[in-house]
Amino acid sequence: MSSQDFDLILDPSKLPEHVAIIMDGNGRWAKKKGLPRIYGHKKGVETAKKIILKTYELGIPVLTLFAFSKENWERPKSEIETIFELLKFYLENELENMQKKEIKFVAIGDIEDFPKDLQKRIKYTEDVTKENKKMKLCLALSYGGRTEIIRATKIIADKVKKGEVDPEEINEKLFRKFLYTADLPDPDLLIRTSGELRISNFLLFQMAYTEFYFTPICWPDFDEKEYIKALYSYQQRERRFGRIYEF
Ligand code: FPP
Repeated sequence: MSSQDFDLILDPSKLPEHVAIIMDGNGRWAKKKGLPRIYGHKKGVETAKKIILKTYELGIPVLTLFAFSKENWERPKSEIETIFELLKFYLENELENMQKKEIKFVAIGDIEDFPKDLQKRIKYTEDVTKENKKMKLCLALSYGGRTEIIRATKIIADKVKKGEVDPEEINEKLFRKFLYTADLPDPDLLIRTSGELRISNFLLFQMAYTEFYFTPICWPDFDEKEYIKALYSYQQRERRFGRIYEF
């Protein structure tokens, strides 16, 4: 299916380089249907697969999905374990597809928080796909923006202590090198589903000039058509990065 199949026609020359998504509303979607929350997560993985494929087809080079936040550790153990199982299952089953499509998988976040088997699977997927060039699929896992900034600060402080970094050299460019996203461009577009109007500790440093798109649709119901709508909305924006273009 191409973007022409939908009413909105995208301008291929104005596509974002990096789309980041807060996939919210799985639990509410399930509750509305009288189902346990985990059904929402299962359907959420299906939505993620569709959106990853559409991103690939459109030729958008980077997609970051917020799959598990630092705050998500506060959820019931059974829900957390289900999410881990879904993630592991996804990584195992999609590896072949990633290789076929030349998708490079990367994880950002405190991966060491996860059970060993999941950590191994994440690292294995990163390793096997590391030479792939067509698209980067980034999953934010046990990720928190403030933790990421503090972590980078500590690494730099340690380097200053050891005499490896001169405090005078610390600038945005150097700081970025110690973020999980060091190898990724900043997101051009953030999409959040389910009607919540906040960024919930996601990519705090990186989203300084990101365009935001919020939709009331819960993640399991988000589809290619809604994605095109978000991208179309992005293409109508004038990005000024703090500058002015007219007097
Ligand atoms: C938000 O819904 C979703 C999550 C907390 C993460 C769900 C994770 C997955 C579906 C796994 C992702 C896996 C892949 C492969 C991308 P919510 O539970 O916060 O919904 P609610 O706000 O309605 O409770």
